[in-house]
Amino acid sequence: MNFESEFIFTVCQIGAEPALKKEIAKNHPDFKFAFSRPGYVTFKSSRGPVPFDFTLNSVFARAYGVSFGSLSEADLGRVTELAEWLKTQEPQRKIHLHVWERDLHAPGEEPLGFIAGSLLGQTENSLRKAQQNRHLFEEHGPPQVGDEVIQLVAIDPGKFGLGVFTYSRFRSPDPGGRPAIQLPSASPSRAYLKLENSLTWSQAPIRKGDLAVEIGSAPGGASYALLQRGLRVIGIDPAIMDPEILRHPEFQHIQRSVNQIPREELPDSIQWLLLDMNVEPNVSLFAVDRLASRMLNSLHGVLLTVKLNQWKFADEIPYFLEHVKAMGMVRVKAAQLAYHRQEVCIYGLTRRGQMLANATPRNSTPKRSPH
Ligand SMILES: C[S@@+](CC[C@H](N)C(=O)[O-])C[C@H]1O[C@@H](n2cnc3c(N)ncnc32)[C@H](O)[C@@H]1O
Repeated sequence: MNFESEFIFTVCQIGAEPALKKEIAKNHPDFKFAFSRPGYVTFKSSRGPVPFDFTLNSVFARAYGVSFGSLSEADLGRVTELAEWLKTQEPQRKIHLHVWERDLHAPGEEPLGFIAGSLLGQTENSLRKAQQNRHLFEEHGPPQVGDEVIQLVAIDPGKFGLGVFTYSRFRSPDPGGRPAIQLPSASPSRAYLKLENSLTWSQAPIRKGDLAVEIGSAPGGASYALLQRGLRVIGIDPAIMDPEILRHPEFQHIQRSVNQIPREELPDSIQWLLLDMNVEPNVSLFAVDRLASRMLNSLHGVLLTVKLNQWKFADEIPYFLEHVKAMGMVRVKAAQLAYHRQEVCIYGLTRRGQMLANATPRNSTPKRSPH
């Protein structure tokens, strides 16, 4: 039995498939499109079997790995065969099992009462139970660098995709690239989910007491997340903020358009600049640029939600990244995350921020205080 494959699977948001295919054609011309379901796209390599630790240069694939094609319920024994084969290759290697469902709806567009997981049923429980005495799969904790992560993706009723990847620090440790984040009832908006997802993905070295400025802050889900993490926040937005956020002693609202705010009006020392304006990317990046240049002496980084109001803007992402670099960022990356709508997050660190990030162990981002 041999588990080599020339195929890879990728997972993206529903609607992002054409942008993903275009991006892979550009960044990885040796991968040709093979198969697609909403939110799940596979490609075939023209260069033979793909190593399990390959890296995909992609903004739209939030998870990916080597693919061994599809299985019916009757074929689920292949999962165990794959785990056993991995053990024979390297007995000490830890093996994780991720069982998850492809996206069935775009984020925020789930019908009323929708509960994720209908395609999964008891699949994961049955697989784990059948193997529990053999300890094939790790039971607890996220994968560590070098661990193998078997992927069983529910694609359609009774149909699963089987795959694997070797975990590295640049991949999401969460099944399907979707961290389990609950929207607190006190959060004024879903933007809480986006921001928490961006912080987990970027591992931005935010610290209690840092001052963050958010352009496009109303009604306040992102501000709520930052305040919960102990940051101070200035929100810039002509719209109305949630009254609870306004009452928070560490929050200040500047209720005007960002274009009307002279740079001098903001404090001298600002560590983080965030953006979430519902306008075209060039307009919003210009607003960030104007303020960031004033903050460079203190700024650690930027976390920018850039709206792809039209999918054609996806082609311009490399230019957006160049623009953000030119603002004084030394490390810049972008991704469309699980809780994003038709938008991407651009994360940039200044030299100062990068030094801080290097000194901060991954996954040690301060957690929210309980609420
Ligand atoms: C997606 S909402 C922001 C959600 C917010 N981040 C939250 O956490 O709830 C987009 C916001 O951009 C704001 N906006 C649009 N144009 C703006 C401008 N020129 N200056 C500041 N805010 C603007 C809108 O008023 C709107 O509240």
